[in-house]
Amino acid sequence: MKAEEILTAAKAEGRRVLDVHESRQVLLELGVPMNRSALAADRLSAVKAASEIGFPVVMKIVSPDVVHKTEVGGVKVGLRDAAGTGAAFDAMMASVGEKRPDARVRGVVVEEMVRGTELIVGSSCDPQFGRMLMFGMGGVFVEVYKDVSFRLVPISTFDAREMIEEIRGKAIFEGARGHPRADKESLAKVLVDISTGVARHPDIEELDINPLMVTEKGLVAVDARVILGTLGRTCPL
Ligand SMILES: Nc1ncnc2c1ncn2[C@@H]1O[C@H](COP(=O)(O)OP(=O)(O)OP(=O)(O)O)[C@@H](O)[C@H]1O
Ligand SMILES: [Mg+2]
Repeated sequence: MKAEEILTAAKAEGRRVLDVHESRQVLLELGVPMNRSALAADRLSAVKAASEIGFPVVMKIVSPDVVHKTEVGGVKVGLRDAAGTGAAFDAMMASVGEKRPDARVRGVVVEEMVRGTELIVGSSCDPQFGRMLMFGMGGVFVEVYKDVSFRLVPISTFDAREMIEEIRGKAIFEGARGHPRADKESLAKVLVDISTGVARHPDIEELDINPLMVTEKGLVAVDARVILGTLGRTCPL
């Protein structure tokens, strides 16, 4: 489905949160590179999707009522075979059912597992300044060191390059100590594409890619979250 149709359908249902599968489709349309994934509604299709994608895989809960999937046991990484994938499906459904009995569950996404350095890209709405774009180191770096840079949307390629250079830990994605090296022009393009995308879709109040992975084979987003504005309210630009 097209991004605009996904956003319209969610609004028609009175929903603010897009599930991870819908969010991934929106990001793909904005031009963001993503790892391979498939939506699976039941155990059998999850196992089938896993063998098509190739082990190891990662499984995640698909629900518009779950914003942080890990918190409800909704992320399983490193699934090595069909038996493990089937067992992970059962465990995930049991855990989500127990922790969030009211959540609407569409199934799971099964996706390619990737290794790399975690970065973060996000856009949110500041009530005073308007739409912002954030970029920085992901994982422990964002939580502990808050190593991020900000700009107002829309940004230019020049702004994107500056945002990248402002990161204190940038040596890590420049290849220090054996970490994979990020192609900075591809990285700048992701930032510009996100900026252009949120500016073009004013209904999007918040968009997060956490993490965007720097791998030996290039950049790839492995998580996506899109949240719509409360009805009738858009971000001041
Ligand atoms: N495809 C993948 N390959 C490797 N590691 C992954 C993959 N998907 C997720 N991970 C790891 O698992 C963590 C949690 O997954 P994900 O970000 O999708 O869930 P979340 O709980 O919704 O995240 P958030 O903290 O952003 O709410 C990621 O931060 C990353 O470290
Ligand atoms: Mg995440």
